[in-house]
Amino acid sequence: MTASPTINLLIAEDEEHLGLVLQKELSRLGNHVVLVHDGQAALEAAGETDFDVALIDIMMPKMTGIDLCHFLHESYPDTVIIVESAMTEIHYAIEALRHGAFDYITKPYTLAEVQAAVERALHHRLLLTSSKQYDRRLEELVSARTDEVHEASSTLSAALKSLALTKQSTLSALAVALETRDVDSPGHSERVVAYCKRLGIMLELGSVDMAALEQAALIHDIGKIAVPDSILMKKGPLNEQELVHMRRHVDFSLRIMRGMDLVDGTREIVAQHHERLDGGGYPKALSADKILIGARILAVADAFDAMTSERRYDSTRTFESAIDELRRCSGTQFDPRVVDALTRVPVDRWREIGHAATKMRAAAQDRDRIKAASLHAAETH
Ligand SMILES: [Fe+2]
Ligand SMILES: [Fe+2]
Repeated sequence: MTASPTINLLIAEDEEHLGLVLQKELSRLGNHVVLVHDGQAALEAAGETDFDVALIDIMMPKMTGIDLCHFLHESYPDTVIIVESAMTEIHYAIEALRHGAFDYITKPYTLAEVQAAVERALHHRLLLTSSKQYDRRLEELVSARTDEVHEASSTLSAALKSLALTKQSTLSALAVALETRDVDSPGHSERVVAYCKRLGIMLELGSVDMAALEQAALIHDIGKIAVPDSILMKKGPLNEQELVHMRRHVDFSLRIMRGMDLVDGTREIVAQHHERLDGGGYPKALSADKILIGARILAVADAFDAMTSERRYDSTRTFESAIDELRRCSGTQFDPRVVDALTRVPVDRWREIGHAATKMRAAAQDRDRIKAASLHAAETH
């Protein structure tokens, strides 16, 4: 047996002489051996020392070895128990195994047999300990990895959120850039987005189509940036040549969008927002079933806001009159399903939606101005 000063042995043996011999011999091998003579004393000793192995006699006063096995195993499951019994008591030994003993030796035994049994018990204890350590390590590992995954996923969702915000603010900045040329009334893009969202919900668009519609609505006319002022700012109707030029804004928009990371379908909606149901639109004169639902919605929302907020020609219509005009063009220029959806919403609700979008846009501009001013102050400080 490999002697180790860290091995703690408990011997519960009522035959005093035998107990002393065992204690002496096992101590000589470098073990720390505690000898007791009954079950009660064994339990008390176990409460004070963490025993690696307990060698228990089955026949003892006060408490049988079987009961002691049971209590020891319940309270100190890491202590490996060996019972010793006479050949005639072998059924007790088997009973003890059922109550948590690991092994048994039969009397009379040699010291070598006891040493071999203790060694087996120690080996078992080592396996038990390392298996528990392994389980503990595994639990720690799983918990650490779970934390890492949670952390990574929250970092990822924060990054995606920030990316989405950055993308959105870039698109908004483009919309604002267009407004600086006084093409549309302030907040036109944001109101068109708000109207599109409401109509998209009513027409039960899926989440990707909704996202594409929203992005397309925000930058639908960005290509007008490339249209000459003489055409863009012209008061009164455009001549044929000017119209051709103006209509090229769709193509310019698509060119500007080329380098952008946009939701699938956004480009197609922008490309088709001037197509008409009757095939009389531009740039491709697509007919009804070739026009995407997103483009049909955008066409209605765009015209609705243009009619109700246009400033340059002092030709602003009331919401009621704009709805009448959309109804008049339903089935020819506009998709009747979209116009129907629009008419199902009370006029006052459209007014509120439009106001809210304009206010949000103004608040965002204020925030940007304050941010720019504080950045400027920090730089010049
Ligand atoms: Fe347009
Ligand atoms: Fe527009």
